[in-house]
Amino acid sequence: MNNLLLEVADEIAVVTINRPKVLNALNTETLTELGECLAGIERRKDVKALILTGAGEKSFVAGADISEMVNATPAEGRTFSLLAYEAFGRLENMPQATIAAVNGFALGGGCEISMACDIRVASENAKFGQPEVGLGIIPGFGGTQRLSRLIGKGRAKELIFSADNIDAQEAYRIGLVNKVVPQAELLGYCRKLAVKIASKGSYAVSIAKYAINAGLDMDVANGLKLEAQLLGLTFSTADKKEGMTAFLEKRPAKFTDF
Ligand code: CAA
Repeated sequence: MNNLLLEVADEIAVVTINRPKVLNALNTETLTELGECLAGIERRKDVKALILTGAGEKSFVAGADISEMVNATPAEGRTFSLLAYEAFGRLENMPQATIAAVNGFALGGGCEISMACDIRVASENAKFGQPEVGLGIIPGFGGTQRLSRLIGKGRAKELIFSADNIDAQEAYRIGLVNKVVPQAELLGYCRKLAVKIASKGSYAVSIAKYAINAGLDMDVANGLKLEAQLLGLTFSTADKKEGMTAFLEKRPAKFTDF
């Protein structure tokens, strides 16, 4: 891969978008590599959680690559968007839990890719924004849809229409990020969280992720019906037997389903 680094250790994958000279902007090659990389990881039984970050200390991802878009036709713009949806859709729906370690600028496509992750942790220097209308386009890697679902319609419209950047504390205040930590502690914090998640029943985590994602597109009554069916499904697993037996025997559980 020319634009990504992948490191797997202790059941945790760390994927680093590695184009620091352009602040890790997403071009076609990077999005293609990301889609392929995630397709490989989602099939791996030895990876229980994934951390996504950007190379360097300045930027997570400064957006879609403007130099690639500047001369693109409408059809090419649409294709670019669909390519991002494929990779971001994998992040959103893969069985492993995903954490965005946002280590600097998360603008445009950078904010959008972080929102396709399950959890966002930001360093104190992180900046979030959807600057697209200042370029004469709209957020096209999921921003108009995921931002409003995450922080609400009013706040999403204000961010998108104004093209303002907000700092990490403001992103925390409005619920765009789960936690803000000093930059030196960012990867360590994310790794600890990933290890904690990986120590639980990973099949159960993947089912909970599915229930939350699928349920959000349903009315609450159907979401609850889905949840009851999925709870029933988890009752069929070895992990359920082990988790509950371990509790009753007052010992740590050893989970194996995934
Ligand atoms: N695409 C391509 N190149 C980019 C880039 C991007 N999104 N962001 C930064 N770069 C490049 C710069 O052109 C510059 O390259 P050169 O050294 O060759 O000139 C290099 O990265 C460093 O950037 P700056 O010199 O601009 O660094 P700075 O510290 O002065 O500013 C910044 C940092 C505020 C993030 C600024 O780079 C910036 O505003 N970047 C663009 C942010 C943006 O508009 N993102 C949205 C893109 S559109 C999008 O994402 C659409 C979508 O949803 C599909």
